[in-house]
This record gives sequence, structure tokens and C-alpha cells, in this order.
Amino acid sequence: MGYKVAVVGATGNVGREMLSILAEREFPADDVIAIASSQSIGKQVSFGEDDVLDVQALDTFDFRGIDIVLSSPGAKVSAAYAPRAAKAGAVVIDNTSQFRMDPDVPLVVPEINPQAIAGYQKRGIIANPNCSTIQMVVALKPLHDLARLKRVVVATYQSVSGAGRAAMDELFSQTRAVYVNDPVKSEHHTKQIAFNVIPHIDVFMDDGATKEEWKMAVETRKILDPDIAVIATCVRVPVFIGHAEAVHCEFARPLTVAAARQALRTAPGVMVLDQRDDGGYMTPAEAAGEDAVYVSRIRSDPTTTNGLAMWVVCDNLRKGAALNAVQIAEILAGTYLGGRRAGAKIEPLRRRAV
Ligand SMILES: NC(=O)c1ccc[n+]([C@@H]2O[C@H](COP(=O)([O-])OP(=O)(O)OC[C@H]3O[C@@H](n4cnc5c(N)ncnc54)[C@H](OP(=O)(O)O)[C@@H]3O)[C@@H](O)[C@H]2O)c1
Repeated sequence: MGYKVAVVGATGNVGREMLSILAEREFPADDVIAIASSQSIGKQVSFGEDDVLDVQALDTFDFRGIDIVLSSPGAKVSAAYAPRAAKAGAVVIDNTSQFRMDPDVPLVVPEINPQAIAGYQKRGIIANPNCSTIQMVVALKPLHDLARLKRVVVATYQSVSGAGRAAMDELFSQTRAVYVNDPVKSEHHTKQIAFNVIPHIDVFMDDGATKEEWKMAVETRKILDPDIAVIATCVRVPVFIGHAEAVHCEFARPLTVAAARQALRTAPGVMVLDQRDDGGYMTPAEAAGEDAVYVSRIRSDPTTTNGLAMWVVCDNLRKGAALNAVQIAEILAGTYLGGRRAGAKIEPLRRRAV
């Protein structure tokens, strides 16, 4: 007997990817239920190559009997419904920012702190980190283990899929409008995104940082080490899928480029692509549809003590969101909810070191 899994936000960018990854990795589910807003009643979503699921409405959905909820309907919606689902007995793995910094909710990247999943019992909720945080900490972890990270300066180049389906459609329509000389309308970005970059993701905070930048700092500390200082500048770029990050690190102990490269090559979930030649690095368009966090351009930073710079690229909808959530579900099912169906394990990612 397998698990009963509900996907909340099933018609969105992240939800559709969750359904596809559940099917791809043959998650041991007897029943998968697609849930979205009441506006989506009557719609269907794909599940794997052959199946389609009728979308059900969240407002009226009864979570009794559901084992695991994979959730991505936006923070306000999660705030309202996730405690109700948990009370009904489900474990909610939530992709929104709503519960990430709640001390009673584990914030998990399976390659880094899978043991934290045990904390799900407090509230019945596990939080999935922000997409930009996930790819950065997966790459930082093996280096932190070697030389203890003190400070990270990061600039992100984040694709429009990170802002949802409507933002992707807007990049497409603005690009077309520029080509045919139509007026450019911006409803889902604060300025024109086609042929432009926007240094503003999420709301501004009192200190001048944006909330996306704040998330990268506080989430990294919660997942990896409370003593790591992080300053981020988060930028939206006209790319459909795949986030890139220029990451500059300062370590407590010396770390050679060769040792860093070797540690990254053997780290779970990481692929090193670093040829120091034309095209010998990863770009977001190439990372779309892939599972790994790619690290390129590894070099020393001579402007600071024990400094190292690198370029980190990842599919924000997969490892940055849906894949990370499904990996958590696999560990939850295999280690903590055992009895219904044993043996769900993390599939090792394909590894390529160049
Ligand atoms: N995209 C990323 O890279 C990424 C990464 C990490 C986390 N996240 C987070 O995941 C969440 C969703 O992101 P997304 O990119 O998938 O957005 P999206 O493409 O805009 O999809 C939003 C989903 O939420 C559903 N929804 C909206 N309001 C609802 C309501 N009142 N009740 C039930 N369902 C509702 C939508 O259903 P309808 O179609 O019925 O409106 C849709 O399925 C956000 O909180 C985002 O911050 C996104």
C-alpha cells in the first residue's frame, strides 16, 4: 500500500514540476490529487507521460486520509490552509516563504540537513527553502566542511519562472511587443523585463535590502551555520528558466582551488563544469530540466584572505523548488512514515565532472 499525496498549487510552475518529478522518480503513491484555486475547477493537469488529473479546489478539500502534501500556492494561502491540513493528519512540505523561519518548522535541503526532517512532528509542516538559497547552499556545504565559511557576497541572476506563470508570459509578450514596436506593458514586474534586468525581487525592507536578499541570508544561516554572514543582491533577468549566481566566499582557513574543485566533484547533488575555455561553463538555458547544481568558474579571490569565487547555476523549478520538495517527501516516507510502504530513497543524481 502506497501513500496518498496531494499537490496544492498543481496548476502553477512549481506544482506542475512536482507532479512531473513524482511520476519520474516513481514516488510510492497510490493516489495523487491535484489541488488549486476554485478558478481551476474543470481544468486538468498532466501526471507523468500518460495520466491526467482533474483539479480540485483547495477551499473545500478535506485533507483527512492524505499522508503528504506538496504545497506551492503562495505564502498567504499556505498560512491559511497548511495548519488545517496538518491538523487533519497530513505532513505539509511547503515551498512558500510562510513557515521557513518558524523555529518549530524544519527548513531542509536533503544534501545538507536531512536529519532536520525529524522536526516535522512539532507542527506537521516542513519548509522548502527559497530557490536562490537552495542552489547556493548545496554548492557551499562541501567548501564549508573543508575550510569554514565566514562570509558570502552573492549576486543573483534569477529567471522569470521564479515569479510564477504570469511573469513568464509577460517576458514573452514584452519581447514580442519590442520586436513589433507595440507598447510594452509591465504588470508582473516592476519595470520592463524584456531586454532589461531588474535589481528588485520581493518587497523592500527597512534596511534597504529586498526580502529575497534577506531570505538568502537568514535561510543560509538556519540550514548551514548560524555564524555565516551573507550579503546578497538579487536581480531578475530575462531568462525563462534557471537561476545563476556569482558567489564570492571568505573562509576561516586556506582553501586551494584544487581542493575546492575536488570537494565539489564528490559532493551530492553537485556537478562541476569548469574548463576555463570558450563555453567551458554552465548557463541557465542549459541547466533547465536538469537536477544538479552546476558549479563553474572556480577561482581564488585574491582581494580577501582565504577568498574563493564561483558561478553556480541550477533549474530553479526543479532543485530550486519541486525536486527538493520531492526529495524531502522521499526521506519522510522512507524514514519516518514507514509501514505503509518501505524503501523510498533519494536517487543519486547523475554526476559529471569536467
Ligand atoms: N517558481 C520558483 O522558482 C519557486 C521556487 C521556490 C518557491 N516558490 C514559491 O512557490 C509558490 C508558487 O510559485 P509558482 O511559481 O508555482 O507560482 P504560479 O505559477 O503563479 O502558481 C501558483 C499556484 O498557486 C495556486 N493558487 C493561487 N491562489 C490559490 C488559492 N487561493 N487557493 C489554492 N491555490 C491557489 C494557483 O492555482 P490557480 O491556477 O487556480 O490560480 C497555482 O496553481 C510561491 O509561493 C513561490 O514563492 C517558487
